[in-house]
Amino acid sequence: MKQVLSGIQPSGFLTLGNYIGAIKNYVLLQESYHCLYMMADLHAITVPQEPAALREQSESVACLYLAAGVDPEKSTIFLQSAVHAHAELGWLLTTLTYMGELERMTQFKDKSAGKESIGAGLFTYPSLMAADILLYNADLVPVGEDQKQHLELTRDLAHRFNTRFGETFTLPEGFIPQVGARIMSLDDASKKMSKSNPNPGSYIALLDSPDVIRKKISRAVTDSGREVKYDPAAKPEVSNLMSIYATLTNKSLADIEAQYEGLGYGPFKKELAEQIVAVLEPLQNRYVEIKKSGYHLDVLRKGAGQAAEKAEPMLTLVKERMGFLKL
Ligand code: TYM
Repeated sequence: MKQVLSGIQPSGFLTLGNYIGAIKNYVLLQESYHCLYMMADLHAITVPQEPAALREQSESVACLYLAAGVDPEKSTIFLQSAVHAHAELGWLLTTLTYMGELERMTQFKDKSAGKESIGAGLFTYPSLMAADILLYNADLVPVGEDQKQHLELTRDLAHRFNTRFGETFTLPEGFIPQVGARIMSLDDASKKMSKSNPNPGSYIALLDSPDVIRKKISRAVTDSGREVKYDPAAKPEVSNLMSIYATLTNKSLADIEAQYEGLGYGPFKKELAEQIVAVLEPLQNRYVEIKKSGYHLDVLRKGAGQAAEKAEPMLTLVKERMGFLKL
């Protein structure tokens, strides 16, 4: 059975972009594959995090996975920092990574732009991400479009290692949805929907209340004209809203166009808000229950053990291949 690995940084609250680009597919893939889903807390600290906030956000992401339907009977859910092999393989792969490769990463360029002091961890972040994936010989990595470049580097590192030290790692493939791989801001369809945007009207947070969701969608920028038509070049704003609608309802873009033909943006946006609420409200109710029960902490304890069991033999093999003296 194929192996799947993915993760989300617990560096703030999650958005509808995280749900559509990643979590929704986590749930789908667990039906057919062995899946490991982590909270990438070692990645989160590549930008400063308040310790109390990091703890809180890590718990929150675990609860969101569970509330969204990631099933611990089918998938291993764990904290990256609880499995030591991640940091260790991360270092080993950093030594195989070229500066030029890291300098080309657009996420690094975006996150470091305009900053005076940039942490070295932000720069070497992709080598750690490669370690996360290669440690489990993952075949498939469900992510949004923005992680594609990191995945390509992971494949390059796997190939480089295999060439130098012998066939060890599987070259992973991305599992990137055709629609919804890049959900855009509600106030500007040229930017990715992101929690770091200072305008809260630009994103839907997974824990936004139904009324806030309705308000944000009604205020979402729409292109001039009134036709509900999927055309990302000419109508980027409406096309983005249609992508959200399509992924949440499993309807095709053509069906949505037909459904709203001649009706204009108003009814479409109203219904879109209701569709988002229909997905997020029950998720939020489950989230509150799980958080209160502490169930997620048991899941994380068990998950760390399961993940470590898989990771340790791989790390041992890698160290052996690289020539570390075994005592
Ligand atoms: P992160 O935490 O930034 O985002 C988590 C996941 O959400 C996806 N995503 C989106 N998808 C569609 N539209 C958007 N607007 C949107 N915003 C975010 C991201 O593509 C991602 O899939 N480096 C990773 C975390 C990571 C990881 C890994 C992922 C660490 N190790 C190993 C996969 C495998 C990150 O920063 O994701």
